[in-house]
Amino acid sequence: MSARFITFEGIDGSGKSTQSRRFADLLRDQGTDLIFTREPGGSAGAEEIRNLVLTGETDRWSAETEILLFTAARRDHLEKTIQPALDAGTTVVCDRFADSTRVYQGATRGDLRSKVDALHELMIGREPDLTFIIDMDPAVALERGLARKSGEDRFEDFGLGFQETLRHGFLSLAKAFPDRCVLIDGNRTIDQIASEIAAYT
Ligand code: ADP
Ligand code: TYD
Repeated sequence: MSARFITFEGIDGSGKSTQSRRFADLLRDQGTDLIFTREPGGSAGAEEIRNLVLTGETDRWSAETEILLFTAARRDHLEKTIQPALDAGTTVVCDRFADSTRVYQGATRGDLRSKVDALHELMIGREPDLTFIIDMDPAVALERGLARKSGEDRFEDFGLGFQETLRHGFLSLAKAFPDRCVLIDGNRTIDQIASEIAAYT
């Protein structure tokens, strides 16, 4: 089977990291050659940008500036990590990708979606083959996320209303891209969710 580009999306604390790692481990156990990566980050340059966008005050960057920073990080990640792996026949499992920009920057602080789409088309031009969107109650997810106290909480610090807007954004995205998106109910145990996702190996 040819290499696949698989992404996990959802609001902060929805369980993406947990489930994407579990799925990558499962694929590896089955003999799939793969790399696990994440955004923002996944290459040396993109990890530097990660630090800029995830720390500091909520008003540190406007949504417009964030679109540029996340897209710059993604371009570096794509050039240095994702595309070389896919070209070598290696599957890529990635925690967040362009759908996060569509929702976090495109639909939370004004309608900036057409700007996100234009920049994506110009500078990225690649969609995943398969995307799991983990949907869950934003209040529970926010509690989980903030409990981690990672120091990278700039987006969690926008509060519950912001997370609710994000949830609706991800639900619309799942409807808009039905060919590649699978909506997963995240309000269950880690094992229950993982066994549903395991059907997609
Ligand atoms: P995300 O990457 O979406 O922010 P994580 O996978 O890091 O989410 O999960 C956030 C926190 O919630 C972690 O402490 C994780 O162990 C816990 N968690 C993840 N999935 C579940 C679940 N289904 N039920 C309960 N706790 C969970
Ligand atoms: P992540 O480390 O996945 O955080 P979490 O585990 O809390 O989900 O992502 C960091 C934050 O960056 C997250 O709040 C979402 C945000 N983000 C954007 O706003 N736009 C983007 O394009 C990406 C990739 C992430």
